[in-house]
Amino acid sequence: MGAAALGASMLTNPSQSRARVAAHQERIEALIARMTIVEKAGQLNLLGDPFRFRPQNVNPLDGQGDPARITGLIREGKVGNLFNGIGAEAGRRIQRIAVEETRLGIPLLFAADIIHGLKTVFPVPLAEAAAFDPDLAYRTARAAALEGAASGVHQTYAPMVDVARDQRWGRVVEGAGEDVWLNEVLAAARTRGFQGERGLADRDALLATPKHFAAYSAAMGGMDYNSTDMSDVTLRGVYLPPFQAAFEAGALSVMSGFNDLNGVPASGNRYLLTEILRGELGFEGFVVSDYTSEQELIAHGFAEDGRDAARIALMAGIDMSMVSGLFLDHIPDLVEKGDVPISRVDGAVRRVLTTKAALGLFDDPYRGCDPERERLVVGSQGHRDLAREAGVKSIVLLKNEGGLLPLKSSGQKIALIGPFADDVDNIFGPWTIWGDESRRISLEAGFRAAMADPTLLTVAKGSEVEAAMNGGVEAAVAAARDADVIVLALGESARMSGEAQSRTEIDVPAPQRALAEAVAGLGKPVVVLLRNGRALELSGAVKDADAILVTWFLGGEMGHAVADVVFGQASPSGRLPVSFPHRSGQQPYSYDHKTTGRPADNRLASQEYVARYRDTTNTALYPFGHGLTYGDVRYGAVTPPDATLAWDGEVELSVQVTNGGTRAVEETVQLYIRDRVASLTQPGRRLRDVRKVALAAGETATVRFILRRSQLEFVGPDGRPTVEPGLFDIWLSPSAQAGEPATLRLGKP
Ligand code: NOJ
Repeated sequence: MGAAALGASMLTNPSQSRARVAAHQERIEALIARMTIVEKAGQLNLLGDPFRFRPQNVNPLDGQGDPARITGLIREGKVGNLFNGIGAEAGRRIQRIAVEETRLGIPLLFAADIIHGLKTVFPVPLAEAAAFDPDLAYRTARAAALEGAASGVHQTYAPMVDVARDQRWGRVVEGAGEDVWLNEVLAAARTRGFQGERGLADRDALLATPKHFAAYSAAMGGMDYNSTDMSDVTLRGVYLPPFQAAFEAGALSVMSGFNDLNGVPASGNRYLLTEILRGELGFEGFVVSDYTSEQELIAHGFAEDGRDAARIALMAGIDMSMVSGLFLDHIPDLVEKGDVPISRVDGAVRRVLTTKAALGLFDDPYRGCDPERERLVVGSQGHRDLAREAGVKSIVLLKNEGGLLPLKSSGQKIALIGPFADDVDNIFGPWTIWGDESRRISLEAGFRAAMADPTLLTVAKGSEVEAAMNGGVEAAVAAARDADVIVLALGESARMSGEAQSRTEIDVPAPQRALAEAVAGLGKPVVVLLRNGRALELSGAVKDADAILVTWFLGGEMGHAVADVVFGQASPSGRLPVSFPHRSGQQPYSYDHKTTGRPADNRLASQEYVARYRDTTNTALYPFGHGLTYGDVRYGAVTPPDATLAWDGEVELSVQVTNGGTRAVEETVQLYIRDRVASLTQPGRRLRDVRKVALAAGETATVRFILRRSQLEFVGPDGRPTVEPGLFDIWLSPSAQAGEPATLRLGKP
């Protein structure tokens, strides 16, 4: 696996869009020559769609758009782009205003936050990352693109590729977790999935918009929107690579961040948006600001007023302004007074028009926008099946003492307890605007469908998510008293993660913990089903349950997907994309931290004057990469134990993996490296590759990896990738905290 191994058929075909763009190049230049400065500013102006109904507000200023006013702006060529409205019929109507009633007839670009599905809701991106499966990420993004494009959307504000190392940050749920490599691979897969393989002009393609450029997730204290401060080496080694992967996969737009990076807000940061993005990464698409982020330069204390903010953002490299209207308001004057050269405005307009051309909008402004197709594609059975498959593959089994799971689907009395037992409001998770609410399978519904005799199931809520329920615990204990096994559905509501939903303590809320203690007091076997948008701190009866499944927010088919795993239709195969710490206070935490000059021996209960806390070890309770199956998978030693890699050569490393259990499983073998001595200190481990292997009961497989020099690279003191000859440790292991390494010597050039 790896970005390169995704398969040629999945590659966006860039030559097609390039040919189309060339055909339009002349037309675009002619248009730019004819455009007034106001029309130019209009092409750089992006507003929320006021025309189409949205069941919920997703942004702070939503719902403020007045359809009559926006219609007027479109007619005058003052708005070239709208977002977060869907619907093919209305889309055609709105597009017609731009095409037929404006002076130049330039089509509108319709964007939307299609994050994990449109009407069919797939698992949240963090959950799907647990599948460690780029093909799955590709397929769900493709399905989302089919639904979005048929509903008249051209661009999605996804994937979020922010590497998330602080679980207090609420937006961990939107990305691929804490590891750089996994973020890279999934950024590429999701980009390809959204954009498809037939070029951007294809009716089923959505322009991908990796976000938020850059380092937004490094918000201090894990508090959303907070400042970020880091070395160039960290920026380049951790936060930029997933963007680069998305660009290499063909992404032609990118969204800037809300954060201030080293004292310069990202949306006014020329070093980031021009020197690095254009100069070093060679990005040719357009940069859209995040929601009012250029206006926020004023609150940051980086711009005096709206005019100043527009100037700074534009000169830094923002091409399109989201919501604030500042570009429309100030570009004409900024250019007239000579504060912004017209060439900069033309450059931004050229990028926007070129993207519109690449999307085929100059050939067919109604491209994809097809009510008939919308009815066929959106929410199709095939997509629902895929949501269930993705749900199953996203579930992670943390522990399974005594082989309690899978449960028997007949002859066993089950008490399903907790605020998520029969809940449907927290199935989708954050960032779904248009999900089909009639298609939300609760755990209870999933269990009943899977059980031979559903009368053996008792259900009790016991507690609200964050508040106790009057008499709830007593009722839950009464409901569980008769059961053979208790299943506790606990964790976070959908509103507890996502944008602006940072937490100081990443625990299961106290009323639910009290419920767990009371019910566990009955002394029966307990399974915990965690619902969560981040890694959680587990304690008490939750931590001590016999079995724990991480079930995230799995989308519309959640109840079925969980039941498939709980009752053994499928063996769990997901792996943690984020480390579950012992304590919230360990945040920020990622498995790939440095060793320090005083590494702790975490096998010892206590140790003085080493890098650890006095009240917990410096490890994770459940580390990155961890996840059990219903088999009994054992690893042999890495072969050869002492490998040599020539500078330009390659070396094969392998490990024998045996399924000693009685059920077929899928095992995810992870290759980690450690550079023992380098000119910059290196992480104790870094993931560089993964192989998934299917193992029948009793089967042994030899899992092989080919390692090359490029996989040993790190960002050197000069900010560029470098490799230094010498000794490396190599693990082929089931998690970031398991296994014994082999030694590898990289020879000299
Ligand atoms: C703000 C969020 O940060 C961004 O991710 C999203 O795409 C925009 N709002 C538009 O809804």
